[in-house]
Amino acid sequence: MKLGRLNHIGVATPSIADSVVFYRDVMGATKIHEPFDLPDQGVKVCFVDTPGADGAMNGTQIELIEPLPGNASIAGFLEKNPAGGQHHMCYEVPDIHAAKAEFEKMGKRVLGEPRIGAHGTLIFFVHPKDMQGVLIEIMEVGVKAH
Ligand code: CO
Repeated sequence: MKLGRLNHIGVATPSIADSVVFYRDVMGATKIHEPFDLPDQGVKVCFVDTPGADGAMNGTQIELIEPLPGNASIAGFLEKNPAGGQHHMCYEVPDIHAAKAEFEKMGKRVLGEPRIGAHGTLIFFVHPKDMQGVLIEIMEVGVKAH
């Protein structure tokens, strides 16, 4: 495994609308994308851009995540963390299938098969109990799936 760029930090929230106001007015975010539904994963998401080292808006993003009706995992997270909270961290890799094989070889529990994530590229998650207590998302970059 070769550690790639930290693409985004997932933050669960009971209300993306309220969180957008927070990131704009408290944190000074200037580039907040339109929220959209990811029905396959039972969530609504909204990306907030942060600047990179060069000052351009190409840094790590914040991924605001709100559960859609029927979603169990994010809703459960919000039951334990009613104000919302940090949910996962997402790192980029060039080859999602190679990364999955490498994690599995190290005995890490990959949660499901690679699937299309919020950026339209393949992603998978690795169990936090195998990853120092942090839910890790691995995301393929380079070739857009759609
Ligand atoms: Co994510």
